[in-house]
Amino acid sequence: MNVLVTGGLGYIGSHAVLCLLKSGFDVTIADNLSNCDISVHKRLEELSDKPIKLYTTDVRASLSKIFEEDKIDAVIHFAALKAVGESIQKPLEYYDNNVYGAINLLETMSHYGVKSFVFSSSAVVYGDSGLPYREDAPVSAATNPYGQTKIMIENILQDLYRADNSWHIAILRYFNPIGAHESGKIGENPVGIPNNLMPYVAKVASGELKELSVFGGDYSTPDGTGIRDYIHVCDLAEGHIAALNYIANKTGAHTWNLGTGKGYSVLEIVNTFINITGVQLPYKVVARRAGDVPVSYCDPSKAQHELGWQATRTLTDMVKDTWHWERARTADERL
Ligand SMILES: NC(=O)c1ccc[n+]([C@@H]2O[C@H](COP(=O)([O-])OP(=O)(O)OC[C@H]3O[C@@H](n4cnc5c(N)ncnc54)[C@H](O)[C@@H]3O)[C@@H](O)[C@H]2O)c1
Repeated sequence: MNVLVTGGLGYIGSHAVLCLLKSGFDVTIADNLSNCDISVHKRLEELSDKPIKLYTTDVRASLSKIFEEDKIDAVIHFAALKAVGESIQKPLEYYDNNVYGAINLLETMSHYGVKSFVFSSSAVVYGDSGLPYREDAPVSAATNPYGQTKIMIENILQDLYRADNSWHIAILRYFNPIGAHESGKIGENPVGIPNNLMPYVAKVASGELKELSVFGGDYSTPDGTGIRDYIHVCDLAEGHIAALNYIANKTGAHTWNLGTGKGYSVLEIVNTFINITGVQLPYKVVARRAGDVPVSYCDPSKAQHELGWQATRTLTDMVKDTWHWERARTADERL
């Protein structure tokens, strides 16, 4: 089975590619290189010891060549812009990249009769719903354009299935992926200043950035900082294999949370990082960031029961693997 992975050189996509290859799938990648380094392609080939076909293309461009040259059986769609704050500043870019990109991809799939689709959605679709977030909670309350793009695409997928019930669709709502592959060869290395906590922490720890900004110290949480459901990126990647296997023989538009069900505050993450690595981490608490909710964690039981999938890696694993990757990456860059 050959899986087209859009955004396959990005953070989550690259870990999913390795996981797919390890599980016996073939992989074709499409990525426009807007938020990744081309060297990830070579690293994936080295780690898997397999050639991996890469199309350097935007998902908003014509994708016919890919479907004509390769026999594609299923698509995992990671390619998107993902920064909540930036989406508030640049809504048109987000709607164009994320929503139009998904429509163009789905139209192409439909044209070539490929109807298995796994979509990267996000906890952000829950907005201010009650905790823990369950898949049946209302999703109309996202507080920012990025979240709106995810809700729109989820709705498009539900409508698509209603119109043509031969589609096999998995909507995966990720919580907060952190960590890196145990090899230290791939991990999160966004272009520019990171928008997510862990790559920011790692870059402060390695001296690349001076100080961590903690957005909001006055939330109604035990230490005043925001709480998130952090999940190891390799656990998350494995969730995609479980979802692909589930939809292989089942039509429908199915939704699953992929998280651990446990929340940690920003300061808990910072202190765990300091304790495990022994590295100092200068930080200052600044104003809340627009679009952020105070607390977010999921009920992961639907994925456990239906997919037989569960996150197994601990916060210690997440921190150790992040630091291993950060040190390897910065050592490589010094060469
Ligand atoms: N990282 C998170 O915290 C998180 C949480 C929830 C959901 N998600 C979703 O998961 C997916 C992957 O996230 P990530 O953290 O790996 O992001 P990432 O930015 O590391 O990876 C996205 C990849 O897609 C590529 N890309 C972006 N727009 C493209 C386009 N129009 N055409 C082709 N390629 C394009 C980028 O170059 C990059 O390699 C995204 O859809 C994101 O919204 C991420």
